[in-house]
Amino acid sequence: MYYLDIRSTNPLALVSLIFAMAASCEDLYASEIAYLERLGPRYTGNTAHNQLIDHIEYQLEALGLNVTTDHYSFDYLNMDKEGPKLTVDGQSIAISSTYPYSGFTNGTITAKLVPLISATLSPFAEGSIGVVQLSNPELSQSILIDTWNKSQSWGSTANPVAATSLNAKIPGAKAGNKVDALVFAWDESITDQNALGQYVPFTFDYIGIPAIFVSGNSSKIIVDAAMKGRSASLNVPGGLKPGTPSRTLWAVVEGTTCREETIIIVTHTDGPNVVEENGYIAALQLARDVVSAKPSRTHVFVFVTGHLRIPAFTSHGQATSRWLDDHPEMWDGKPHHRKTVASLALEHFGAIQYTDDLKADRYQPTGRVEPELLYANTEELFEVTEALWLGADPSYTRISKPSLFLQFGEGAPLTAQRIPNVALVTTPLYLLAEWRLGNEVALVDMGALRRQIQSFQRLRTKIDGMESASFGVPGPLLSG
Ligand SMILES: *[C@@H]1O[C@H](CO)[C@@H](O)[C@H](O)[C@H]1NC(C)=O
Ligand SMILES: *[C@@H]1O[C@H](CO)[C@@H](O)[C@H](O)[C@H]1NC(C)=O
Ligand SMILES: *[C@@H]1O[C@H](CO)[C@@H](O)[C@H](O)[C@H]1NC(C)=O
Ligand SMILES: *[C@@H]1O[C@H](CO)[C@@H](O)[C@H](O)[C@H]1NC(C)=O
Repeated sequence: MYYLDIRSTNPLALVSLIFAMAASCEDLYASEIAYLERLGPRYTGNTAHNQLIDHIEYQLEALGLNVTTDHYSFDYLNMDKEGPKLTVDGQSIAISSTYPYSGFTNGTITAKLVPLISATLSPFAEGSIGVVQLSNPELSQSILIDTWNKSQSWGSTANPVAATSLNAKIPGAKAGNKVDALVFAWDESITDQNALGQYVPFTFDYIGIPAIFVSGNSSKIIVDAAMKGRSASLNVPGGLKPGTPSRTLWAVVEGTTCREETIIIVTHTDGPNVVEENGYIAALQLARDVVSAKPSRTHVFVFVTGHLRIPAFTSHGQATSRWLDDHPEMWDGKPHHRKTVASLALEHFGAIQYTDDLKADRYQPTGRVEPELLYANTEELFEVTEALWLGADPSYTRISKPSLFLQFGEGAPLTAQRIPNVALVTTPLYLLAEWRLGNEVALVDMGALRRQIQSFQRLRTKIDGMESASFGVPGPLLSG
């Protein structure tokens, strides 16, 4: 019933229709998740991404808000729907995923496979297809993510986002890299299903060297062929489209008593699946809240583009840094500028937990919700969050603390500007995966999503009423 084509419907009528049809918020949230699944992967600048941005804009306008658009253009890498193809000795080899913004081949290339110790040694493999073995190691999260309560520190995890960001960076041709293409061969530390469709690593510059990932038996075949000095044929279809547009939306709800003080509520709109990114559902709920009960402080709702193409949108930090750089008048407190007192970053709601059982060669749900990665960047906000965030699984609320070097997610640019924030940015193993393993909607636990949104509703109400001086001052962050 909710699956109307929003492009052919009067937006205001559609939004009121959805409200009339949705017996409750739960139905509305579920219809949004179903809508995301129907849209398919929202890679920055693709049609599905543009449709979601339109969809959000319609809903903000239906609330009577003035929506401002920041227009950007960038070099978009259009990947063919057919996907890449790899053959060795005429045998077709299954591919797990394409390395985002690596490059493309012009038709099929055939070249000698050369085993490489790492992508960084590839200058010695001119004109070949380099084969690099890659592990998905268990990494200690507590090195990267601190917690306010030391007895709730993080354990370890083996997430392909981390493995590829740390160990699969490709130096480009300018750095002397002369390979024609690269094949990253996952070893036995990841299942085929987990490796499938992973849109990783996603934060690097365009390289101009096409690269793919294989896993399991495909890895064995390709590594064996490389050891024997065989050739392979590879086709990575695609093409760069310079000047591709994308946009960030933002809307302001004026405060009734403290107009010059702002609260920023930020999320991003691009993402490959229904978890990454669904934060706009929570942001729209908070927007409805302040439209129906006017806030004391001015609220700025920001829906940024570029999270999956960060280097094309900003020279530092995560995608929100671009909006902050472009709109200091909304937050930096300089003469005639508004001053942001606190902020909320909303990402990855209701994420269920998956685990790789390597012994049984199975990738499966654990039946639980992924432990929440919930940051508070000041002690004052930690205390407020601890009191108002309810129902976490495991049974305690673990509140994380940015380190000097790192905060995951779109809260980081706010911390880097010393803006107090609370940020949810839970990171399940499939966070960056284009989902090809059946029922995608089931990745979201609707009860958890609802509970997390309600916690943010309580937090927003609370921080709107707190004294300006009571939020604390975040420590420095060197990477935001
Ligand atoms: C929206 O913008 C118009 C034109 O600038 C202005 O007249 C109107 O008051 C604004 N509405 C709100 C809700 O800010
Ligand atoms: C791709 O190949 C075609 C035909 O050989 C050639 O005309 C074209 O310039 C090539 N494009 C690129 C980007 O190399
Ligand atoms: C810290 O966490 C532990 C384990 O969840 C809990 O038992 C303890 O009460 C917490 N300490 C404080 C000061 O909240
Ligand atoms: C991988 O190869 C083994 C041994 O040939 C075979 O038993 C297994 O079914 C293969 N796995 C897949 C996923 O093709």
